[in-house]
This record gives sequence, structure tokens and C-alpha cells, in this order.
Amino acid sequence: MTANPRSIGSIRHLSDCYNIADFRELAKRRLPYPVFHYIDGAADDEVTYARNTAAFESVDLVPDVLAGAEDVDTSTTIMGRKSALPLMMSPTALQRIFHWQGERATAAVAEKFGIWFGISSLSTVSIEEVGERWSGPKMLQFYYHRDKALNTALVERAKAASFDAIALTVDTIVSGNRERCKRSGFTTPPRITPRNLLSYAAHPAWALNFLFREKFDLPNLSTHVAAGTGKAVSIQDYFNSMLDPGLNWKAAERLRNDWGGTFCLKGIMSVADARRAADMGADAIMVSNHGGRQLDGSRAPFDQLDEIVQAVGDRVEVICDGGIRRGTHVLKALATGAKAASGGRMYLYALAAAGEAGVERAMGIMQDEIRRAMQLMGRKSISELSRNDLRTR
Ligand SMILES: Cc1cc2nc3c(=O)[nH]c(=O)nc-3n(C[C@H](O)[C@H](O)[C@H](O)COP(=O)(O)O)c2cc1C
Repeated sequence: MTANPRSIGSIRHLSDCYNIADFRELAKRRLPYPVFHYIDGAADDEVTYARNTAAFESVDLVPDVLAGAEDVDTSTTIMGRKSALPLMMSPTALQRIFHWQGERATAAVAEKFGIWFGISSLSTVSIEEVGERWSGPKMLQFYYHRDKALNTALVERAKAASFDAIALTVDTIVSGNRERCKRSGFTTPPRITPRNLLSYAAHPAWALNFLFREKFDLPNLSTHVAAGTGKAVSIQDYFNSMLDPGLNWKAAERLRNDWGGTFCLKGIMSVADARRAADMGADAIMVSNHGGRQLDGSRAPFDQLDEIVQAVGDRVEVICDGGIRRGTHVLKALATGAKAASGGRMYLYALAAAGEAGVERAMGIMQDEIRRAMQLMGRKSISELSRNDLRTR
């Protein structure tokens, strides 16, 4: 995602941000570069990352006018829970590194907007705190670890904290090749090296918050692995040493049974896998390539959506995850047959730029864009969107 060519003047304050690209600019300005590039970067040549958003331009919306669409209902039901928008906040790791408010900001905004959010296995606020403080629909993103006691503990903690769903990430059995992180030396927690020292020194607000507020922790893991103890490790090393590359359908089914609640597979891309997910009784699948951070050269979620919806849309809820930067992207995913769209960077740039106020502004913009696009399409409710609203270029 490059700088927004339509921006007039530079983006220095939250009030200068009118779209997701603007929040990205502000985040870039306010973060030490290793942290910004961890959020913004992806795998290899980042071809898939770029395609994730560009894919939405391969179809056009065809509006119907004179539809009397003054009142628009953007609400829907996702995985059995009412959602005020057909949009979810995808689980993302390490949020207190991006801004000291971290997952607390994300959860508070999700609750305010009445939408789903997820916390990562690698969240910096605990499952227990999130379960206790925020009542809205929430999922635990599940990394399947080699350490089976850790897997069991995560399931039990999600149950005790009354999480609404577990999403097993299936596209990350080893780490993608994130070259920006290699160059910047990004680790968790961030380690200041002679090479990146200047960047941390040039962002004192970030550095002071990071150093003097609540200590960095990965509370869902710290009882089991060194990564939660404050020892700096790269995400690549963490994934490659801790996650179980032997993860298979049997293990996924076992996890679903142990959990016993609403179950989602995150990272399904092929029709064959979507069918297996439906056969095993998953409630939802997130068609996703991890925001382009894993297998570069793989297809975009939106490019795969149509064939997956055709194959299993009547048996499992299909969520389009990745590349969402505009309300019209959400409408295109829904018109193709997705139950909802979901995104990470759309709120992460805003979190990094300005904490809870930033996330609230970003999600407010997305809400306005969805509502306005529905009005301009002449659609009063989500159920009125259909494939007939789209034409392929
Ligand atoms: C900084 C960052 C951290 C992420 N951490 C996780 C994670 O811990 N677990 C996971 O399943 N996906 C993770 N993701 C992927 C998101 O859940 C989501 O699939 C992705 O952000 C969608 O692409 P988008 O950023 O273009 O919306 C992460 C993404 C980003 C950008």
C-alpha cells in the first residue's frame, strides 16, 4: 500500500485521516521503523499482499437507483452472534507493541461498534482479561503448538473466559519469509540495536510508552514458553520452533471436539479444503492468506471467494479476510456471497497511529463507507446484496 495519492498536504494528526491509507501514513510517522514494517510488511516480494486489495478492482458494482434507501440496516448475524456491521476485526499479534493501549483499545472499539473481534494466541492482554471486560462477540485465534499442554491450556482458558469462538489458523505451520523484519531486526519484545537505535530515539513518545508503561508480556503463553518471559525472539524463530508443522485434519477435528463451541478455520484457500472444513462441521471458514504474510504467490481471498462460496456457501459461513481497505470492498465480498469481511491492517494502522481514538475513527470511517455504499447501491439491507450487483471487468 503506497502513500495515498489523493491526500492533500501531509498527514500529521488523527484529524488528517480520512481513509485507511491516511492512518498508514500517520503510523509510519509515529512508529520506529522496525515496528511499522512488522505491521506493514508481508512475505517475499509481497505480490500476494498487493493483490489482496487489488483483487477488489477486478469487479465493479452496478447500482440500482431511485430505491428510497434513506434507512439502511447494516446488521447481520455472524457465527450465531448479532453484528452491527458485516465486518470483523481479525486477530493480530503483539498489539501493545504498536500502541500501549493494545488489545484493550481494539476490544473497546469492537464493543462500541457491536462487532466481532479476535485476539491472537500471541496477544499482549490475557484471555481472562478480555473475557471479563468486553461482552461483545470475540474469538481466540489459535496457533497449534508442538507443546500439547499449551494447546490444552489455551482451550480451557478460552472456555473459562466464555469466548464465543476459536479460530484455528491453518496457514502458519512455519513462518513466512518476512524480509522487512529480517532487515529491521524486529523481535518480540523489540530489541534496540546499534542499527535501529536512531529510529527508536527519533520516536520518543513510542519509546517512553513502551519502556515505562505496563511491561511487555505474552500472557497466553508465558506459563509455557520462553517467548513470554521477555527474552527477545524473532517471530520467524518463534513460529519455526514452537508451532507444530505436522498440524493436520485429524488434529483440527480433535481441537474442535475438545473446544466443543463455535469453530472456525482461518486460512482456507482451496475449494477442496473448504469442502473438508464443511464436512468436519466447522461453523465458519476465513478465506485468508494471513494478509500476504505467509505464502507469497498465493491467490487473494477475494479471487478465491466465488468458487468457495459456490461449493460450500450453503453449509458453512464464509468470511473474506484480507485486503479490506474500503467499505466498497466489504460490499463486493458480500455480493459474492461472503457472510462477512474481516481485516487486520485496516484497524492496526489506526491503533499504531493513535490508540483507541485512532481505532474508533478508522472503524467509524469503515462504518460510514459501508452505509453510504449501500445507499448508493440502492440496498436497504445486507440480504439485498447479490451476485447480480457485480460485473467482472
Ligand atoms: C501485524 C499483524 C499481525 C498478525 N497476527 C496474526 C496472528 O497472530 N494470528 C493470525 O491468525 N493472523 C494474524 N495476522 C493476520 C490477520 O489476522 C489477517 O488475516 C490479515 O491481517 C488480513 O489482511 P489485512 O491486514 O490486509 O486485512 C496478523 C496480521 C498483521 C498485519
